[in-house]
Amino acid sequence: MRLRRRVIQASLVVVGLSLLAAPATAQSVNRAAIDDLNEQLLYVALPLTLFVELTLVYVIYRFRNNDDPQPTVDDPALEVTWTAATGAILVFVGISAFVVMANPYITPAAAQAADGDDAFADDTEIDVLAYQWGWEFSYAEANVTTEERLVLPADRNVTFRLQTTDVIHAIYIPQLGVKQDIFPGRTMTARTRATDPGEYRLYCAEMCGAGHSKMDATVVVKNQSAYDAWLENRTATAG
Ligand code: CUA
Repeated sequence: MRLRRRVIQASLVVVGLSLLAAPATAQSVNRAAIDDLNEQLLYVALPLTLFVELTLVYVIYRFRNNDDPQPTVDDPALEVTWTAATGAILVFVGISAFVVMANPYITPAAAQAADGDDAFADDTEIDVLAYQWGWEFSYAEANVTTEERLVLPADRNVTFRLQTTDVIHAIYIPQLGVKQDIFPGRTMTARTRATDPGEYRLYCAEMCGAGHSKMDATVVVKNQSAYDAWLENRTATAG
């Protein structure tokens, strides 16, 4: 009995600590949506895990010296209950995940299919060219192209038009929650709205040959005035 109390106490401490541990604030709307989903699912998964594990520990302890084990009796009500409960949980997980997938920052193609090409007309548009092995970023509104350095305005919607000159690559900015495969002969779309000025890493996330591991870039998020000044400066030096 004392053991059982200890196990219950320890589990309560674990639950308490996990509730207190506040996740770091997200650096983009994509990342915030993904983090919220993870948190939501954690609140479902944690009690379930504890329930299953505690039941297991209890049963092992309770029946550890059973010299006369009996086969279990059918219990249709119990079976229907746990099947329905599992089904309800899976539907909840499915719907939560689908809502995030349908987010126009996570899957811009869905919003484009619904609203046509004008869906993101007000966004800052950046053309991204992936090649073996590097990145080129072109700013549609200015005559500016950069290499291995992607500069983004903070708190502005940004649409990336992604193309590759050779094989399949994938743009991946973990801290901004951006990830999209880029296929030859097609223009893919990715979107974000970065919220925190700062520097982040960009990687290629698709094995694309000998230089794959070196195919990275720096993402710099600047506030609007610093971004405008940078773009103007680059336009002047390019012109
Ligand atoms: Cu490009 Cu890996």
